[in-house]
Amino acid sequence: MVSFAGQVVVVTGAASGIGLGIAQAFHDAGASVVLGDVRQDALDRAGAAFSDRERLAFVPVDVRDAAAVANLVAAAEQAFGAPSVMVANAGIVPNASVVHMDVSEWDAAIETNLRGVFLSCQAAARSMVAHGTRGRIVTISSIASHVGRLGASAYCASKAGVEMLTKVLAMELAEHRINVNAVAPGVIEIPQRATEPSARRTNAEFRAALIEAIPWGRYGQVDEVAQSVLYLCSPAAEYITGAVVPVDGGMDTGWTHMPYSSHQR
Ligand SMILES: NC(=O)c1ccc[n+]([C@@H]2O[C@H](COP(=O)([O-])OP(=O)(O)OC[C@H]3O[C@@H](n4cnc5c(N)ncnc54)[C@H](O)[C@@H]3O)[C@@H](O)[C@H]2O)c1
Repeated sequence: MVSFAGQVVVVTGAASGIGLGIAQAFHDAGASVVLGDVRQDALDRAGAAFSDRERLAFVPVDVRDAAAVANLVAAAEQAFGAPSVMVANAGIVPNASVVHMDVSEWDAAIETNLRGVFLSCQAAARSMVAHGTRGRIVTISSIASHVGRLGASAYCASKAGVEMLTKVLAMELAEHRINVNAVAPGVIEIPQRATEPSARRTNAEFRAALIEAIPWGRYGQVDEVAQSVLYLCSPAAEYITGAVVPVDGGMDTGWTHMPYSSHQR
């Protein structure tokens, strides 16, 4: 395992799911980790996921709010020193067709998933440039950035935006030797979600169809996304910037549910 000892890592949306897994993986690798999330109650619970409270800080933040995001980075600087890693992970997944969607649902997705990632990247980049830190920024996109999904127009559009933001920022920060990359997960199993209403809405048929669309034949695990983020922040990935790394069991490769054509065995 690569050591991140001495590094300061900020993760947004870190109170649950993938963000929490990323925070745990960096912490296990020796980093000081600042967990930001809009839900104070979930942040309070997140502490239980760690074996100790050393090298951890929990900061309430709404990533849609520029001042709050600047405060998140300032809190990291104050607690542990200037961040060397920012993981812009916070995101929401509204579910409504365009015809039935209220404009507030569109705005919430774009403001959280795109504006929030922009503000997180901007605050981190400003700190890294000011401190001369050769840092790493990772955004969390989705396979939905380029594969449409019914009821997810705002989500898909926001994630497509995240990927272009990532590429442009990679160009802009190259002179400072700050790498900017995106990780695009496929379908990731979130254990805590098993009892939540969104999980109850899906039935066995839906889950079977999803798994059939994944060449690897299973959902991804939170730690598999986390390890890809750690790789992009490791010395081995020094020459990787502006990339979008799929972590999707091959879901992005094509139509797995189509049979072989008739002339092929
Ligand atoms: N789970 C998947 O299958 C999957 C697949 C592809 C991409 N993703 C992406 O991974 C990221 C994490 O998703 P997840 O599945 O872990 O979801 P999650 O709901 O478990 O975690 C998201 C976290 O973001 C926080 N958050 C929401 N709005 C916020 C705001 N305005 N400010 C700060 N924090 C806020 C939530 O409180 C929550 O803790 C998202 O960007 C999501 O789009 C997830």
